[in-house]
Amino acid sequence: MSREEKLAKLAKKREKVLLGGGPKRIQKQHEAGKLTARERIEKLLDEGSFVELDQFVEHRGVEFGMQEVEAPGEGVVTGYGTIDGRLVYLYSQDFTVLGGSLGEMHAAKMCKAMDLAVKMGAPFIGINDSGGARIQEGIDALNGYGEIFKRNTLASGVVPQISVIMGPCAGGAVYSPALTDYIFMVDKTSQMFITGPQVIKSVTGEQVTAEALGGAMAHNQVSGNAHFYAADEEECIAQIKSLLSYLPSNNLEQTPVMPCDDPVDRMDEALKTLVPDDPNKAYDIMEAITAIADNREFFEVQPYWARNIVVGFLRLNGRAVGVIANQPKVMAGCLDINCSDKASRFIRFCDAFGIPLLTFVDTPGYLPGVAQEHGGIIRHGAKLLYAYSEASVPKLQLITRKAYGGAYLAMCAKSLGADMAIAWPTAQIAVMGAQGAANIVFRKEIGKADNPAEKRKEKIADYEERFSNPYCAAARGFADVVIEPEKTRPYLIKSLEMLLTKRETRPGKKHGNLPV
Ligand code: HXC
Repeated sequence: MSREEKLAKLAKKREKVLLGGGPKRIQKQHEAGKLTARERIEKLLDEGSFVELDQFVEHRGVEFGMQEVEAPGEGVVTGYGTIDGRLVYLYSQDFTVLGGSLGEMHAAKMCKAMDLAVKMGAPFIGINDSGGARIQEGIDALNGYGEIFKRNTLASGVVPQISVIMGPCAGGAVYSPALTDYIFMVDKTSQMFITGPQVIKSVTGEQVTAEALGGAMAHNQVSGNAHFYAADEEECIAQIKSLLSYLPSNNLEQTPVMPCDDPVDRMDEALKTLVPDDPNKAYDIMEAITAIADNREFFEVQPYWARNIVVGFLRLNGRAVGVIANQPKVMAGCLDINCSDKASRFIRFCDAFGIPLLTFVDTPGYLPGVAQEHGGIIRHGAKLLYAYSEASVPKLQLITRKAYGGAYLAMCAKSLGADMAIAWPTAQIAVMGAQGAANIVFRKEIGKADNPAEKRKEKIADYEERFSNPYCAAARGFADVVIEPEKTRPYLIKSLEMLLTKRETRPGKKHGNLPV
């Protein structure tokens, strides 16, 4: 074969792979409102940066006529490239080739890219669009999933792992995304479930559509499995880029520091009146979060689920910070099972990747109720205590109003290791609210009084005067400073910059045992 012929052979082979399942299947993919595997990569990565690996890998299936079946690229495109100039590795399943189904060699391609991401310390992004285990390959496909799950687990806390669901992701295949740090889903075209509508109907008799069962909103709002919802693939890709801008490439690297043109000493007068005089009146904690952030930008994670707690990223003088905030607007900011899960996972992510934590506290306590108790609020709530105690990154606590009892501790109290506890004058740091306290402590006295209602009011006022303020805590050093609300941004930035060199060691162990 001449040199020219050899080059022509390469070009022909490559052309075939680049066409995936061919024009008809590509058209079907587009008609379904989906980009192809390669189009997704093109839009996600910096122009011209993609380097493909394993383009010519072939399956080794022989059962069910597979010897005769060609699967260009093995149904998955893998490789590396850059996003905003930073290295990432990825795979993108090609639904036009055997429905993106995962066989032995398809899995091997994914595993190779994952191994490289860990060795090089770069984020790993998996774009899922697959009919699941390639049925014709049987346990070889199953073994492939096992290899992926193991790698997802070992890479956890080493490099950020992002799963993007842009088509079906069913059966055991869902567990790779579940093991990663963040799941992105797209309205109407992405679905995740362990057992689909037909199986459910035959086993339990329940009737449900695939979208209602495992669509983007189902997992963003109801199950809490997903973290981001996008109206279409373009929006989803923009969200992935935003998220990455807050993250370091690996656990040994610093987060990128962005230039900041928002003055570090900027005051915000609106914060003076944010907390209402009436303790039973709600307000939107998002106003406080955005008021203190660089350019008022906050990138919220899981905005549709467990909305009584807000988590996400912002920057202070250009440095990424992970925010955890009670939301008084939703369930009065009570802590419950779902919000404990949401916050503790976020805290552990930030701690693993060296991202400082900023906690806004305004919570009346744990949500009372049989459903919460029997649902395991004890162990779920314990996750928050565990996550905060375990975290060794800089920890800032800002108490805006209610900080009662166990919930106060669970929101990064000084005793759990807050490096800087800042309170507004409206803070009420106490074992419980004044009304509840008066009812218990002064019950007999109130009962015996000539005018019990009057006595009760008097006792509540007395309790409030003595305990429902920041000064009891400040007197014991549990609040480091009490500040005027409008000065919060400058204080937080000074505190964060003071804490940048923080070093805190933990006793050596194999790993702890988080209550799950
Ligand atoms: C082999 C598959 C496949 C699979 C789809 N295809 N899924 N081939 N193995 N798992 C093929 C189809 O035969 C078809 O090939 C092409 O991909 C496109 O599929 P369609 O069905 O035409 O597409 P659509 O109508 O959009 O439906 C998509 C789908 C459906 C909902 C994903 O294909 C489906 O239900 N597939 C099977 C899903 C499944 O049961 N997977 C196994 C789960 S068990 P042709 O040549 O006709 O175009 C599992 C275990 C993992 O994953 C365990 C890990 C621990």
